[in-house]
Amino acid sequence: MAVPQQAADSGGPDSPVLPNIARIRNFWLNGSRHNDDDREMAQRIELCGPHIPYLVRAQRSLVRRQVRYLVTHGITQFLDLGSGLPESDYVHHVAQRLDPTCRVVYVDVDASIETDSKELVAGADNTAFVVADCRDVDGVLEHPEVRVICDTSRPFAVLMTELLLHIPDEEDPAGLVASYVDAMPSGSYLAISHFGEDDRVLEGFQIFEGLRFGRFPAVSLRSREQVEKLFAGLALVDPGVVPVPLWRPEPDDEVLRNPSEVRMYTGLGRKD
Ligand SMILES: C[S@@+](CC[C@H](N)C(=O)[O-])C[C@H]1O[C@@H](n2cnc3c(N)ncnc32)[C@H](O)[C@@H]1O
Repeated sequence: MAVPQQAADSGGPDSPVLPNIARIRNFWLNGSRHNDDDREMAQRIELCGPHIPYLVRAQRSLVRRQVRYLVTHGITQFLDLGSGLPESDYVHHVAQRLDPTCRVVYVDVDASIETDSKELVAGADNTAFVVADCRDVDGVLEHPEVRVICDTSRPFAVLMTELLLHIPDEEDPAGLVASYVDAMPSGSYLAISHFGEDDRVLEGFQIFEGLRFGRFPAVSLRSREQVEKLFAGLALVDPGVVPVPLWRPEPDDEVLRNPSEVRMYTGLGRKD
């Protein structure tokens, strides 16, 4: 289901588009790269959808579990598409703690987070942040900095954590995912995590816009079945596509809602 507002469509002078989503998430994740506007907007979103920051934290803790699973199953190369700001115990921190030889490339289309992101990875070995549009698959895989870090002739993991909600059906998200899968050698993995059709999220968007706080950029929410179809041709790692808190949970994970009611789905698929 698409929530049809175009980011470029501001809806009038008193109705600006949501400010930077990566920095708002960074605020909720106790990161260091957000400004007054981001914090104000984060607080407005929280007012309308009080559980949204929890969903973001739950997704971050999922990434840690998936990265740990991948490293312990022999993966040492990661391509994180739609990474946002690489802070708050993210992919390279977790992977390199387990295996210092891990190599990580973060890719995001948002040039406004480039300086911060590059500062955040400076000093980490074999780790880069690249501004690129993930829809240009060859452009990403052939990018000089990606090629330096990631040898795509060896197994690697592609992570799409809350990326595909930015790819509407008209842009063929399944085709995009398949293009990355085609480019992977056998033994590689794909992780997807995706907001579902959560009535409380939709209600939150409506309240937010009703209060004239601004307009949300276009996002596409997808059902569990739709997310499952994105793994076509891959062998799903147990437990398959499930609500995020139920993917290989660990006892210390924060649980704020009945996990089976969390409409945010994830899976990890292996290319045989
Ligand atoms: C909801 S955030 C998720 C950030 C991060 N993966 C996380 O888990 O915290 C989505 C990110 O995808 C990026 N994005 C959106 N469309 C993209 C595209 N076509 N190519 C690359 N990145 C994109 C946005 O700029 C944003 O930083």
